Amino acid sequence: MPTEVPDPHDIFTDNQRWGDLDEWNQAALALHEQGGIHLIEREGFKPFWAVIDHASVMDIERQHELFTNEPESVLLETAAIDGRTLEIKTLVHMDEPSHGKYRRLTNDWFKPANVRRLNDRLDELSREAVAKLEEFGGECDFAVDIALPFPLQVILKILGLPEEDYDRMLMLTQQLFGATDPDLQRDEISPEVMNQVIGDFFAYFTALTAERRAEPGDDLASLIANGQIDDAAMPDLETLGYYIIVATAGHDTTSSAMSGGMHALLENPEQLAKLRASPELVNNAVEEMIRWTAPVRHFMRTAQQDTVVCGQEIRKGDWLYLSYKAANLDPKVFENPLQFDIERPNADRNVSFGFGVHYCLGAQLARNELRRLFGHLIPRLESIELAGEATSMKTTFVGGHKSLPIRYTLTPA
Ligand code: HEM
Repeated sequence: MPTEVPDPHDIFTDNQRWGDLDEWNQAALALHEQGGIHLIEREGFKPFWAVIDHASVMDIERQHELFTNEPESVLLETAAIDGRTLEIKTLVHMDEPSHGKYRRLTNDWFKPANVRRLNDRLDELSREAVAKLEEFGGECDFAVDIALPFPLQVILKILGLPEEDYDRMLMLTQQLFGATDPDLQRDEISPEVMNQVIGDFFAYFTALTAERRAEPGDDLASLIANGQIDDAAMPDLETLGYYIIVATAGHDTTSSAMSGGMHALLENPEQLAKLRASPELVNNAVEEMIRWTAPVRHFMRTAQQDTVVCGQEIRKGDWLYLSYKAANLDPKVFENPLQFDIERPNADRNVSFGFGVHYCLGAQLARNELRRLFGHLIPRLESIELAGEATSMKTTFVGGHKSLPIRYTLTPA
């Protein structure tokens, strides 16, 4: 009996398909051979166009008035959209002109010159990560023990939150993004459960806003709590949405890039050897890790007019899925796209951080986190190998490794 080949068109809607990233990549490549845009009609979902062509993803993002984030910027099943009772409004749910007004509140804070101030803390966290590896004595789960805590510690730092809040933030950020993965769910997924998670977030950040309004500091939370839009205090819903986007967008994304990057090095020992021999390659290696992992799998846009995308007629109201992951494997842009190559000359043309007015605010911070962590870690690694099965989160939105067991030896400090 011939085994049935799974339909590559399912890779966008079927969360199980995200459990095996090699297979996902193969399916994406098969779709590239068929074309740059695909109509996806699956039970439970409103039909949408999956855009995988690199140039088209950028074109759509560039034309932000023609292709808007509203009304739904993330792919959800129709039942989840219809059952939602609690509104959540963040930068990624907004369009111009309001998006620009809200983004300007923190735009400068995230500029390279400002986030560079955090480098000392990133170095400290990187040294702590290496010390942890020493303590573990040769075996650990890189995804859980190293990659997960690092960016969350950075979020606590930028928001000015105490380290005691680590566990609570961890649970909430994972549940919000990992909500379709059975291991990360608080309960079986339902609109009520999602509302409960979002409700917890609201309670926590409402208290924080009150504190920072009473006693502002120089952290990002103070900037958000005291933010003015059109000369008036930012409304509560948007204030809370701002915290949520910073806390969630900066966590699983960056940790997924870290563990996915490490896994790629383990699977390509010649690349690891190259990086060890030439540490100055770390910046380009990080760009390639970001291309390779594309932890934010997609965002959605809605067409405001009839138009054409990648040769395909699109009607006003059509929903488009921007597949950052598949666009990063576009063979027209990336030669030999399934090869992880830390010297890839155009690795930085990846679209993992999006493009245009919504371009990731935390891109420079995320890059610095990876550069510092790998910059400290690689020179200390004498040997490293996989020590068990690596597993991935089965989620359709933001994801990466759930587990990455490693065995290693370190050189003396
Ligand atoms: C490797 C790590 C990261 C990846 C892959 C990533 C990816 C993305 C993507 C794809 C978008 C949407 C872009 C678009 O629609 O064009 C985005 C938006 C955003 N990201 Fe990131 N991100 C990462 C890390 C971070 C970090 C560390 C922070 C902050 C601490 C952050 C904060 C944000 C915010 C606030 C937005 C909304 C921007 C807007 O809509 O104007 N991200 N990110």
